[in-house]
Amino acid sequence: MELKGRDVISLKDFNREEIEYIFKVALEFDLVASKKRSVSLASGKILASLFFEPSTRTRLSFETAMLRLGGGVIGFAEAAVSRAGDHYGESISDTVRMIDRYADIIAVRHLTAGTAAEMAKYSDIPVLNAGDGNNEHPTQALQDMYTIFKYRGQRLDGLKILLMGGMNYRVMHSLCYALPRFLNIEIFSFSSEDTRMPAEIVNYLKSREVFYKEIKSIEEVIDHIEVIEQIGPKRNKGDFIEDKFILNREKLNKANPNLLVLHPLPRIGELSEDVDSTQHAGYFEQAGNGVPLRMALIACCLGLA
Ligand code: CP
Repeated sequence: MELKGRDVISLKDFNREEIEYIFKVALEFDLVASKKRSVSLASGKILASLFFEPSTRTRLSFETAMLRLGGGVIGFAEAAVSRAGDHYGESISDTVRMIDRYADIIAVRHLTAGTAAEMAKYSDIPVLNAGDGNNEHPTQALQDMYTIFKYRGQRLDGLKILLMGGMNYRVMHSLCYALPRFLNIEIFSFSSEDTRMPAEIVNYLKSREVFYKEIKSIEEVIDHIEVIEQIGPKRNKGDFIEDKFILNREKLNKANPNLLVLHPLPRIGELSEDVDSTQHAGYFEQAGNGVPLRMALIACCLGLA
């Protein structure tokens, strides 16, 4: 499988074979990452870590991934200390035309949808979208699917998944673009009226003949779904959240014992901490999987795997 030079902008651009290949490579890096070892595969290569928006997990797991591959990392502490983020407001096209002379691969997060695609247009090196506005978060969705893939004995066909919270989150969009690559996927969504799945994505699922159903309460599906991916609804810390959108231990009482609860994190109250000690909690392992998965993406896009 040749992924050398590929950008990772949208999961619409990746087919089943490519996704499975990335997972296969990630499995090979799993032990390196979990034992906190390093290899020298990417020795001499540099990742430009360009985070114009806050991040804990995505940024640190991208940087850890490159360091564990034996490469180096450059970046700025925050957007405000780059010329793109200060009073110059340097353009994305100028910024990237410099950076592709410094680095071998770019990971970029930006608050504006389409920024990763714009960077890729001006860059000769691979651009990996680490989240662009409310558009997509493809590496997070791959990390989430990789977590499910491992949990289900390395298969995704036949998955029944509930997307819960805000369908306006970029990771939900990326999941809906990638999951249809697999067979007999059933997607349920549970969100507030103002955070329903965008029509464009619902139409995409329809065009792929994927089972998709909006539900009004978690009780409708809790006994037969295999995975809940939760995030949102979007709000600030301390803002009101309707009880029906809070996932807690009590609501999981009727769940399939093997139900896996995922959340890209951070959580701000929608996922109760009393779930952490249940057999369902998969979100910290999911966050850990960001390292081998991003090692695989970097290695594949650099043509090292
Ligand atoms: N899941 C996720 O994107 O987390 P960060 O915002 O901390 O990167």
